[in-house]
Amino acid sequence: MSLVLLDAVYKITASKSYQEIFDNLCEYLIGSDICRSVKFLVFRSKGDVAYPEGNEHITQEELKQLREFEMEKIDELQSCFVFLANLGVCFESQKIHLCRFKVLEQGEEVFAFFEPAESFDEKAFLYILKIASAPLNFVSSQNTLGSILKYAAFVADQREPEQMLVTLAEMAREFSAADRATIWMSDEANSTLWTKVAHGMGPITIPNSAGIVGFVYKNGEIVVSNDPYSDSRFNQEVDRKTGYRTKSILAIPIKNSENEIIGALQTINKLASKDDFNDADVAKLKLVSSYIGNTVELANLHKEIEDTQKEVIFTMGEAGEFRSKETGNHVKRVAEYSYILAQGCGLDDTTSDLLRMASPMHDIGKVAIEDAILKKPGKLTDEEFEIMKTHTTMGYEILRHSKRRIISAAATVAYEHHEKFNGRGYPRGLAGEDIHIFGRITALADVFDALGSDRCYKKAWELEKIFELFNREKGEHFDPKIVDTFFKNLDRILEVRDRFKDV
Ligand SMILES: [Fe+2]
Ligand SMILES: [Fe+2]
Repeated sequence: MSLVLLDAVYKITASKSYQEIFDNLCEYLIGSDICRSVKFLVFRSKGDVAYPEGNEHITQEELKQLREFEMEKIDELQSCFVFLANLGVCFESQKIHLCRFKVLEQGEEVFAFFEPAESFDEKAFLYILKIASAPLNFVSSQNTLGSILKYAAFVADQREPEQMLVTLAEMAREFSAADRATIWMSDEANSTLWTKVAHGMGPITIPNSAGIVGFVYKNGEIVVSNDPYSDSRFNQEVDRKTGYRTKSILAIPIKNSENEIIGALQTINKLASKDDFNDADVAKLKLVSSYIGNTVELANLHKEIEDTQKEVIFTMGEAGEFRSKETGNHVKRVAEYSYILAQGCGLDDTTSDLLRMASPMHDIGKVAIEDAILKKPGKLTDEEFEIMKTHTTMGYEILRHSKRRIISAAATVAYEHHEKFNGRGYPRGLAGEDIHIFGRITALADVFDALGSDRCYKKAWELEKIFELFNREKGEHFDPKIVDTFFKNLDRILEVRDRFKDV
């Protein structure tokens, strides 16, 4: 081995970046008169360019063309030159050869575009490329590590489970260099698997024993099938339905923290041609699948907590109203009116929904008012009324210690639903926008429903009479903006009134 070659081998194997590796390769190939010129390009399976760095993108079609021209002259292939020029790769003459010399473990493909020198020695050329394989793989896996960390940070920051699953499907696709990724979730009640997230197709439901995913779900085994059409477990039905041709599949179970299988993660069609899904892909997808398991579990847990809160709130709200002889439907109607008014006032969906869940609790403090006052048929004395007013502060006291968003919204509602816009309400005599929007909205919703319903001591008011009162109290008892919103959304409000009629 010549000293020059030895030196080149040493430099290449010690290189730590694509740039360094390719600089050393070029120096040797040109210095030793093997090539007149040479350029290297690295493509990721999705078609973006890993080297030279930049935002260049190559289409799948171009990538396919490149692969077909291995070690072939590409002088005639005009589109290749256009695309090379786009990447800033120029050669003086056009006697260019193309060599796809390496597919890295991470699915990246390395191409060499070169112009052979007079004394081109193919053996020497291929030998030095082979030497570069190990450092190339090293750099590629370092890059993958970087992108795992990038995704891990992203997943840790993400609060929205649905969005997180979409990202995780993307992560699965990228890490296994696959064309598509699908997250299948189990619907145990119906013995089916359904696509929670799927690239390139609409929602699909299949029997939970069908196909390779079904096998993975039932047996908890990882399946790598690089020739699915000769695999008896493969369900050709999905391809027939979607018109897609599956060439390779990697499927892996998704488990919850109890180690129960709740679905399967599947990637389809390894993008790097001539390459199959391998052990490295399996290792990476295991990581993604465990993220998915955690995400789904967290989302379910979150939903359960929220459902429980809603249920508790409704029950507590009903208890308060029951004691004061309100009907159960009163709280349901107030909840829906509040929601409509909140939306009409421009609150976002999440906030409007929060108020819908919290407003049924407005009178919860009444559980602390003695029966003699609460159920007194006639008019309350001043002293009794003062006691009655304390249901607001009582309700607030009951709820205010919770850090849960629904309960703490309910605390605000209980505290402020008897405040008036003109400052003459109770318990604190707050005015205008010092009263929380939740309090201002619930005040109107509650009064509308109370006046419009029969009570043991009074008949329901006619709608016209209520509207007159609202107009009169606009800016006095009620926030004018909310009175306007009420009239603007009258159709929806009356629809709710009908839907939750007292029987
Ligand atoms: Fe009240
Ligand atoms: Fe009420």
